[in-house]
Amino acid sequence: MAIIRTFDLTKKFGEFTAVDHLNLSIEEGEIFGLLGPNGAGKTTTLLMLTTVIKPTEGTAYVGEYDITKEPDKARRLVGMAFQEPKLMWVMTPWDVLNWHAKVCGLSSSERKQRVKWALTELGLWEDRHKSVHTFSGGMRKRVEVAKILIQRPKIAIVDEPTTQIDIVGKHRIWNMIRALRDEGSTIILATNELYEADILSDRVAIMHRGKLLVCDSPKKLKDSIVGGDLIELVLEKEAAENTVEELKKIEKVVDVLAIKPNHLRIYLNHAEEVLPQITELFMKARLPIRSIRMSEPSLDDVFAHYTGLTIEEAEKQ
Ligand SMILES: Nc1ncnc2c1ncn2[C@@H]1O[C@H](COP(=O)(O)OP(=O)(O)O)[C@@H](O)[C@H]1O
Ligand SMILES: [Mg+2]
Repeated sequence: MAIIRTFDLTKKFGEFTAVDHLNLSIEEGEIFGLLGPNGAGKTTTLLMLTTVIKPTEGTAYVGEYDITKEPDKARRLVGMAFQEPKLMWVMTPWDVLNWHAKVCGLSSSERKQRVKWALTELGLWEDRHKSVHTFSGGMRKRVEVAKILIQRPKIAIVDEPTTQIDIVGKHRIWNMIRALRDEGSTIILATNELYEADILSDRVAIMHRGKLLVCDSPKKLKDSIVGGDLIELVLEKEAAENTVEELKKIEKVVDVLAIKPNHLRIYLNHAEEVLPQITELFMKARLPIRSIRMSEPSLDDVFAHYTGLTIEEAEKQ
């Protein structure tokens, strides 16, 4: 069942359209990735869903509440870890999180237990009484993410939760986001990191210039690129012309390129299913294979497929 639905959700800043007639449906209990380059309109979308800013046009339902008509009720279902946390400079993580837990209505025993757990898990326990102005960007980000983990809202929105955080910290946060989902929260994750969107999301919506390009599971998005998978084969000896022709006849093989007489590139779909057929063909032709390399497209290839740009190029524009 959809827990969030947007209907032509639009936000203009003056003449500029930051979010352009967005139609999304987010299922209860999923991790929904919103992927796009900087400036795509991700944060603006999330701020409308959390009723921090008002849409110029269109609307969204959060649960059963229309954000333009019953913003207070809609807001109660969501918790958000902001991209640029506005933490009070004089406060310590201990104060910030205890205060947040109190505002969210946690009992004092829950508060004690969850604040300690989040601080420990995020590696902030030792620094809990230091004022946040001494913190690095990554540490401040962790305090912001801790808020949502303590709150456990029905809908948890995390806006670029792992920027400026090292790889160990990233994995820790990813695991905690998964755990939060397993506890029953629906997660909306905005990110410009392909890997993060890919490994964490059940479904990904790709945004570019305020518009939705596509929305599906990472696997389906990648599979939707015809001939997007690649199998590279190096043979012990030259492949005969008819072997290449045989290869091309295999279902799901889109193209075969001989970059050297004994080095073939096979563009195809569902490479993992077709590989046995391919190796069998070489066995029958008595052509020993020296090496096999298999790769599938990334979400960057998906983005490029729809925009003609890599995400990196899009960010430069
Ligand atoms: N308050 C604002 N006033 C004017 N322009 C804004 C404002 N907030 C965002 N924008 C513009 O809207 C576009 C989308 O921004 P944003 O939603 O932050 O993108 P993302 O989160 O995908 O990086 C950007 O071009 C940004 O400069
Ligand atoms: Mg943003």
